[in-house]
Amino acid sequence: MDKFVIRGGEPLLGTVRVSGAKNAALPCMAAALLTDQPVILENIPQVRDIQTTRNLLTAMGAEVELGYGRAQHRTTIHCANLAAPEASYELVKTMRASTLVLGPLVARCGRARVSLPGGCAIGARPIDLHIKGLEQLGAKITQEHGYIEAHADRLKGAEIVFDKITVTGTEDLLMAAALAEGETVLQNCAREPEVADLADLLNKMGARIEGAGTPTIRVKGVTTLKGAKHRIIPDRIEAGTFIIAAAMTGGDLNIAGCDPTHVGAVLSKLREVGVKTKTSDDSVRVMGDNPFTGVDITTEEYPGFPTDCQAQFMALATQAEGTSVITENIFENRFMHALELVRMGANIRIEGRRAVVRGKTPLSAAAVLASDLRASASLVLAALVADGETIIDRVYHIDRGYEHIEEKLKDVGAQIKRMGEMFPKKSAAHPSR
Ligand code: UD1
Repeated sequence: MDKFVIRGGEPLLGTVRVSGAKNAALPCMAAALLTDQPVILENIPQVRDIQTTRNLLTAMGAEVELGYGRAQHRTTIHCANLAAPEASYELVKTMRASTLVLGPLVARCGRARVSLPGGCAIGARPIDLHIKGLEQLGAKITQEHGYIEAHADRLKGAEIVFDKITVTGTEDLLMAAALAEGETVLQNCAREPEVADLADLLNKMGARIEGAGTPTIRVKGVTTLKGAKHRIIPDRIEAGTFIIAAAMTGGDLNIAGCDPTHVGAVLSKLREVGVKTKTSDDSVRVMGDNPFTGVDITTEEYPGFPTDCQAQFMALATQAEGTSVITENIFENRFMHALELVRMGANIRIEGRRAVVRGKTPLSAAAVLASDLRASASLVLAALVADGETIIDRVYHIDRGYEHIEEKLKDVGAQIKRMGEMFPKKSAAHPSR
């Protein structure tokens, strides 16, 4: 199992480039199931969840081609024949977003068999709203032996109000509604940029979707969709992680190739604590040369403060003067990183959904365990300012969603190395697999 060894104390200096958004790439790859023509996606990050999705689609009968060399971030997905519209437990258990294939498969094939995802390190994370919505579109759904089976001759448009805002739930139903008969109105939708990116792709494929990125999305169903070419938006969570890292390490870092409007909530909190930032159309510069103070944050759906940056912000709060209260509103168990940060010397008290962080505390290197994707990022950030050499175990979590993070950090001055070689490096990209 790979580990990161990080020696703290170096400010991050220079320019780091943000990759394509994993959370936009995953639904866009699933959208390719809706057509028998090739879908070409650009700016696909090389992360493990993308490999998992490639395996998932291939197992159903899709042809998935990866670019190589200069085109290594391009992937072409051709779902001419979908012999087995199924997602097995083996794949779903490693990546919950696999459930994104449910909507497109019922819409295109009239049937789908998808494993229920089960529990998760950060909370229960049910998919009841995906199921309820598909039933409202006319699908017959049964659950047996840990699998959901869905059937429908042709889905029929409906008015659906989400009981709770769900990102992949909105995406799943958006894809299903694109091929349904008649009009679907989705209400109380997630407004995340990844939802709007998916709608952009679907519209290029011939769908008729309006309002993506707002709480109400209208979809006029069509009978078939065609192939398309689409560039995935930049990863706002990766950008947020580098922004926080630069501030914490007292660096001067230009985060290039991002969309500053997508990281508004993170930037506004940083300005509030006293970190200087400057934005252009596609970059953010963080000048972290002065001490910063504690601040309260509450995670919310977009455009609020993202839960996916909460763990990283907690690492920053340990280095802020004063008290920060962090309230996690989206997931019920998303403070696993706090315990590891405490082992490094942080002063954090958990009270239900709130974490009270008192700073500034010096952090000292320790052997720590990554528990989930964003928790691992938080430990990397803490290690960058800790005294001594931190060893982070189970970095496969970080490989799920951050492209070559150790290389990117090393290029801007961090002392970080990977031990073990479980995940291929840039140079080892395989052609056409
Ligand atoms: C997506 C993101 C994830 C991010 C999360 C919240 C992807 C691939 N993943 O996850 O990185 O942390 O949004 O921004 O895009 N819920 C239900 N029933 C459902 C669906 C969700 O109760 O059917 C609950 C969840 O348990 C959670 C909340 O709704 O408490 C929000 O979850 P949701 O937006 O669905 O998260 P994901 O789409 O899984």
